[in-house]
Amino acid sequence: MKNLNVGLIGGGFMGKAHSLAYSAMPMFFWPAPAIPVRHTIAEANDQLAAEAARRFGFENSTSDWRRIVEDPRIDVVDIATPNHLHAEIAIAAAQAGKHIICEKPLARTGEESKAMYDAVKDAGIVHMVAFNYRRTPAIALAKKYIEEGAIGRILNFRGTYLQDWSADPNSPLSWRFQKSIAGSGALGDIATHVIDIARYLVGEFNSVNSILSTWIPDRPIQSGGADALGNVRGGDDVPRGEVDVDDEVMTMVRFANGAVGSIEATRNGWGRNNFITFEIHGTEGSIVFNYERRDELQVCFAGDADDRRGFRTIYTGPAHPYGDGLWPIPALGVGYGETKIIEAHDFFQAIAEGTSVSPNFADGYQTALIDDAIVASAEKDAWVDVPRVAELAD
Ligand SMILES: NC(=O)c1ccc[n+]([C@@H]2O[C@H](COP(=O)([O-])OP(=O)(O)OC[C@H]3O[C@@H](n4cnc5c(N)ncnc54)[C@H](O)[C@@H]3O)[C@@H](O)[C@H]2O)c1
Repeated sequence: MKNLNVGLIGGGFMGKAHSLAYSAMPMFFWPAPAIPVRHTIAEANDQLAAEAARRFGFENSTSDWRRIVEDPRIDVVDIATPNHLHAEIAIAAAQAGKHIICEKPLARTGEESKAMYDAVKDAGIVHMVAFNYRRTPAIALAKKYIEEGAIGRILNFRGTYLQDWSADPNSPLSWRFQKSIAGSGALGDIATHVIDIARYLVGEFNSVNSILSTWIPDRPIQSGGADALGNVRGGDDVPRGEVDVDDEVMTMVRFANGAVGSIEATRNGWGRNNFITFEIHGTEGSIVFNYERRDELQVCFAGDADDRRGFRTIYTGPAHPYGDGLWPIPALGVGYGETKIIEAHDFFQAIAEGTSVSPNFADGYQTALIDDAIVASAEKDAWVDVPRVAELAD
């Protein structure tokens, strides 16, 4: 069992989630495919970097991410910065021969994502994009049922990601509301998770017809720093700056396999927190999931007798995907942290075995092409075809 040195870039929300995953992965999955060593963490300045190293258990810290990429002792580069830095860091890391895990969205646009995809293909390293929600056991269980044919041919996918942390007009203008940093708003930030789940469960997108809306055109300016996700509010006396990304996205989808669907995402839906839901109808049954009750999967099988057909609730546990490594009793509680621990496991397993892992940069690039098509569709007010990454052709 090898040790693999990790260089983590960005010590905010995702820096915390990934650090937790590196420390906990061998505790959950034993024998571990490899032991992640928290070697070096990079932050925006020396003080933040030193603080992050102490807090997240890293041996070294730096305010220059290039020192991580250039360090021959580092095996894995983990990109957990705001989106505008993903491409530059990933391309440099690929050229240096590092294995890479990059937070979603892969980049701000399809064009940037393509450059990253080309770089990792040329480098022949293991690459992963951190769409961790598909590693929620109940979602992986939905995938298993679909692959077994338990709900027949899929007809319809209805997905949502609804939150309320930016519904207050005084929630600050963090990097997530600036196109130059984030690329897009609710689309790249949260709709991409549902797009990834839809691709995972149903398949590739052929075309989209979309609406993008910006409900709050300006917000109190936040000067740098991590995004507090609405937990800090600017007062009426704080100067306001323009929001140039979407607050809400709605899209219809035509899938390549003939299924149809809809995806909605907003960060302005009062009362919704992490409301990732999907309802899938197939010719032989239905599946319903809600992340706010993520230990549960609701299924209805058409083959059940007429007098008992209806939704039943499965509580995920040892009998279900990833169950061996998680907790020994169903419904004990699987959280966000566990999805990141599973993600780290699958990434390190691919490195140890010299295989590829999914979702990888091809998937991140394909999702960026879908995002671009959604933007073009909203601008044209028309259906727009989604180009396909050649590697993902039918
Ligand atoms: N997979 C998920 O569920 C999920 C959830 C949240 C965020 N994300 C993604 O993770 C990424 C980071 O988001 P976050 O919520 O952690 O943001 P955040 O604002 O909490 O943290 C970003 C951190 O990066 C640091 N940073 C900025 N410039 C830097 C530089 N040059 N070098 C090193 N560090 C630098 C900031 O100081 C900050 O601490 C984004 O791409 C976001 O879309 C994914």
